[in-house]
Amino acid sequence: MKTYKIAILAGDGIGPEIMREAIKVFKLVEERNDVRFELLEAPFGGQAYFDCGHPFPEETKAICDAADAIIKGPIGLSHEESQKIPVDMQPERGALLPLRARYNTFANFRPVSLPKAIAHFSPLKPEIVGDGIDMIMVRELVGGLYFGHKETGVNDQGLRYVKEVLEYDEGQIARILHEGFKLAQRRKKVLHNIHKSNVLKSSVLWNEVLGEIAPQYPDVKVVHMLVDAAATHLCLNPTQFDVMVMENMFGDILSDQGGGILGSLGLMPSACLGPEKAYYEPSHGSAPDIAGKGIANPYSMIGSVAMMLEMSFGMEQEAKNVWAAMQGVFADGYSTPDLSRGGSAELISTEAFGDKVVEKLRSL
Ligand code: NAD
Ligand code: IPM
Ligand code: MN
Repeated sequence: MKTYKIAILAGDGIGPEIMREAIKVFKLVEERNDVRFELLEAPFGGQAYFDCGHPFPEETKAICDAADAIIKGPIGLSHEESQKIPVDMQPERGALLPLRARYNTFANFRPVSLPKAIAHFSPLKPEIVGDGIDMIMVRELVGGLYFGHKETGVNDQGLRYVKEVLEYDEGQIARILHEGFKLAQRRKKVLHNIHKSNVLKSSVLWNEVLGEIAPQYPDVKVVHMLVDAAATHLCLNPTQFDVMVMENMFGDILSDQGGGILGSLGLMPSACLGPEKAYYEPSHGSAPDIAGKGIANPYSMIGSVAMMLEMSFGMEQEAKNVWAAMQGVFADGYSTPDLSRGGSAELISTEAFGDKVVEKLRSL
């Protein structure tokens, strides 16, 4: 029997609420397959700073180092709570970016998917959504502006200034583009390259590298699109996209817009892959506005479990079953409140959604 060690970083805000439902799914998958998951919970994020004095404590690093894969809930505090923590210890800078750097998880896959049966959750008009939305955003995750040198000070005129560097080398660009091409080859063979080469030199190099490696993927059609225009296209014609590839900040922003066109960030899971280790997390944040109310949508967290089953453990069929179970609960007429928008769905809690997913999964 296979045994996998999984580090569980529940995080802040709605993190523990949605992680609880994800754990139910791990347990059921264990029950029905020849596999054991050793689930190791560890503190990570803003609460970890208050409890342990660091948002990414040494004991958590050791658990993650030893794990076969990591599942992480969102981290982050409300604006007011964040102010109680020194800037570099705030969980985004003090825990999340260091986690990404530690395991070099350069390839972030963010599916933006809404099958036809639940297409009514989208705030876009039915004629725009058509038979549903189904694309994957491939985001570079450990380079660019978020990881560049940062400097603050006072300049010659006595004015406070800040300088943040956007840096990529051709190796970093090539490896994420290869991920985009390979994924496009397995899907519809169309790759949207999102860039800003009319202004940014980083995009000029990005596109040069793309031109050099594209001949290795002759069956993939590349469509170049400026990032600002892409934001509009996502609203007006989202079904033209299948695989989109982009640098770190563009991917951060456009993937949240992806959640918007689906109807909620709660529908956005993700996978973050490095050369040796992968971690999985919702694309969204800790949602302080709804934390503690038991109404968060756990789809993003359970979807991250499905991505782990498929991408880390090769359990493709079971991953498909998890997606089918979640979509089945929606198709049966239930939803968490984030997706209601005056619709006819019966509103259920985070916990009830998790229980229904488990029940559905048992029947598949
Ligand atoms: P957010 O993503 O937490 O929330 C934006 C909106 O989406 C809110 O209205 C929220 O209620 C809603 N939402 C998000 N997830 C939901 C879910 N599963 N179910 C229902 N509704 C959901 O963004 P924010 O408020 O800008 O950020 C809050 C904190 O999260 C900040 O500290 C930020 O830095 C952090 N953050 C962390 C991650 C991460 O851990 N990967 C990602 C994004 C933001
Ligand atoms: C995300 C988040 C993070 C990012 C923050 C919290 C550091 O917004 O995962 O999308 O900007 O990458
Ligand atoms: Mn983001």
